[in-house]
Amino acid sequence: MPATDPAHPHEHRGGPDHDAGAAPAVLRLTFDGRPVTAHPGQTVGAALIDAGVRSWRSTRRNGRPRGLFCGIGVCYDCLITVDGATGQRACLVAARDGMVLTPGEPARPAPAEQPGGGDR
Ligand code: FES
Repeated sequence: MPATDPAHPHEHRGGPDHDAGAAPAVLRLTFDGRPVTAHPGQTVGAALIDAGVRSWRSTRRNGRPRGLFCGIGVCYDCLITVDGATGQRACLVAARDGMVLTPGEPARPAPAEQPGGGDR
């Protein structure tokens, strides 16, 4: 049995990760310049959580950290830049080999003021 990393028990070490023409067993992405791995079928958000990243943007007004919240595409807390495309929901985007993930504010107009002082 090949050696495995306890943090990533399904990741092979010491050999090629994929055969020619087959999907890689481990997807290799970068987040803020650092390597992150994902499993085929995993979302970007799940891969980041698996890598120990809990937040990847902050609120506009108070700078509060945001990452996964609803996990189903409703709250927009998980917005992230994927391969230069801003405002992507990390909980919905499937991880792909070679993806470049960038934290930070999405480059789009701020939503209307939230009743009750919401802080998105
Ligand atoms: S976590 Fe709510 S939209 Fe992604």
